[in-house]
Amino acid sequence: MKIFDVYPRWPIEPVYARGCKIYDKEGNEYLDFYGGHAVISIGHSHPGYIAKMTRQLEKIGFYSNSVLIPLQNEYAEKLGKASGYPDYSLFMVNSGAEANENALKLASFYNKRKKVVAFRSSFHGRTSAAVGVTDCAIYRAPVNENLEVVFLPLNDIDAVRETLKKNDVSSVIIEGIQGIGGIIVPDSEFLKELRKICDETDTILILDEIQSGYGRTGLFFAHQEAEIRPDIITIAKGMGNGFPVSGILISPRFTAVAGQLGSTFGGNYLACAAAIAVLDAMEEENLIENAAQVGGYLICELKKIPAIKEVRGRGLMIGLELEQPIREARDQLLFQEKVFTGATGIHVFRLLPPLCLSKELANEFLKRLNRVL
Ligand SMILES: Cc1ncc(COP(=O)(O)O)c(C=O)c1O
Repeated sequence: MKIFDVYPRWPIEPVYARGCKIYDKEGNEYLDFYGGHAVISIGHSHPGYIAKMTRQLEKIGFYSNSVLIPLQNEYAEKLGKASGYPDYSLFMVNSGAEANENALKLASFYNKRKKVVAFRSSFHGRTSAAVGVTDCAIYRAPVNENLEVVFLPLNDIDAVRETLKKNDVSSVIIEGIQGIGGIIVPDSEFLKELRKICDETDTILILDEIQSGYGRTGLFFAHQEAEIRPDIITIAKGMGNGFPVSGILISPRFTAVAGQLGSTFGGNYLACAAAIAVLDAMEEENLIENAAQVGGYLICELKKIPAIKEVRGRGLMIGLELEQPIREARDQLLFQEKVFTGATGIHVFRLLPPLCLSKELANEFLKRLNRVL
């Protein structure tokens, strides 16, 4: 059997990784400024993470949600404290798309409405409702076309007000910072007004923090910059440092209804162990503060490079827009300078390194980037 060939791949085979570095089969060492698509939060093969996962696997690896799994409660309590949402509830699933799918569903169960508002350049995943609110027609198959969705320009509060005024929109879904759209930061004033209008119209506000959350921007969640509290927050990526786990944080306004949501794998022992190990390492090593500090430094230094047209983002979620296509520079960075980076469209680099990035490695990256620009 062959692998269904949907991914363009680099001809590189990583066999070992530690912290912010990856090593390939030929023994080359790479700087990881992509984090496997913003997934590696506490660093590759973190010792505490390995120990916790190994110990858990030796005890019990899986059972379904038909039994007591106290690790779920332990994780939820830690997450509530770390994120500033101790009064919210947690529902665990397995991927970002699935988290958004359940968030949209829960909102619709709650207010019995169907219509959803999303924003231009959004990305929320590839399952049915998640791809329905993703602003990219080529990801949608005819079976995904049933969702009633309105795409509005980001930061256009008048358009939001006009669209929500009939009180018939179930939810508004928005990324904390648009990732795949090119590291586009929503204005804090916009988010504050959006919160207000959602309250006035009984519309559920869903914050997709799958890429921008979990400390990446120097706060636990990117939306906390605007000091708003969404009704539902979705998380994935950095949550498991590579173990597939995701979740939705649910405000106290929702009542759990038995059977309404569910998942076979969601919240299994290994997922909980991974998620707990990540939060422990984030706390012990002050990784959110580190993301703020090293990210702030990096953004400041990147802004001094004349070849870069615009630097966007916060903390360690950084977009670099060039006047010319980035392809050649990105290839040179990877193959000559041995640095992994992300990209969006043809003009934007996306930097999403692990949150444990040191200033020394940030400087090393700047040196290598300067050589190719
Ligand atoms: C903001 C955002 N939401 C949702 C997703 C989908 O996550 P997954 O690929 O785990 O389904 C992504 C993935 O890149 C994302 O960046």
